[in-house]
Amino acid sequence: MTWDVLRYDTVDSTNNVCKALAAQGLDSTAVIARAQTAGKGRLGRSFQSPEGGLYLSALWQDCPAGQLLTVTPLAAVAVCRAVESLCDTDCGIKWCNDVVLHGKKLCGILTESSLLPDGSAAWLVVGIGVNVGQASFPPDIADMATSLALQELDVSPDALADAILAQLTAMRTVLTDPVEWLAEYRRRCVNLGRPVRVLRGNTVRQATALAIDERFGLTVQYENGETETVRSGEVSVRGLYGYIE
Ligand code: BTN
Repeated sequence: MTWDVLRYDTVDSTNNVCKALAAQGLDSTAVIARAQTAGKGRLGRSFQSPEGGLYLSALWQDCPAGQLLTVTPLAAVAVCRAVESLCDTDCGIKWCNDVVLHGKKLCGILTESSLLPDGSAAWLVVGIGVNVGQASFPPDIADMATSLALQELDVSPDALADAILAQLTAMRTVLTDPVEWLAEYRRRCVNLGRPVRVLRGNTVRQATALAIDERFGLTVQYENGETETVRSGEVSVRGLYGYIE
């Protein structure tokens, strides 16, 4: 399997470009931009996308229902592997989909799909934003964001894009049985055993992150002893004292 790759200087959002291509019936297509004017994050947030970052979305058709929930966390593993294949570092994953380096966010992932009545995806777009060459971040995110350049890792965005696409190809072959990738996700997850705040709408509860279940849900234990497995899309998780701590 190969990807048809379309490269742009600036787009509103590489996810939006992919969605338009999906409507035309394109499959296995990747869109890469050097900057985005309306980058989208999870839970309706925006994603700041200046030059220096890598903004990559991968589109494919016909993703069976059972595989839909596993795509995004596995894409986080794919990004970790790609970064580590190009430079000497160790990436972690903050549940559910943020790739982290030295305790700060290096990459965010937003998956969008169009569902058929049986719950499978007519098309699926995995959007990946990696901070590659940014030398600084605006004050509102400076405490929680980092880039490869800020960690003194010299990586070319083009080489990183190629490495990520190679890992996404590998990922697509294991979607039905991602046992090893799940184990790797668990190993990389920086939250386990640590205190977290579970943010659901306007409510915030303190808990301890205990485990990742078979479907990449995060099992947490609240202060009253009650446990719950939370899923991406319904909650976000923050550390008690910072982004992951
Ligand atoms: C998040 O951290 O909340 C997810 C951020 C996802 C950003 C990427 S950048 C490429 C693609 N295009 C977008 O508009 N969003 C994703």
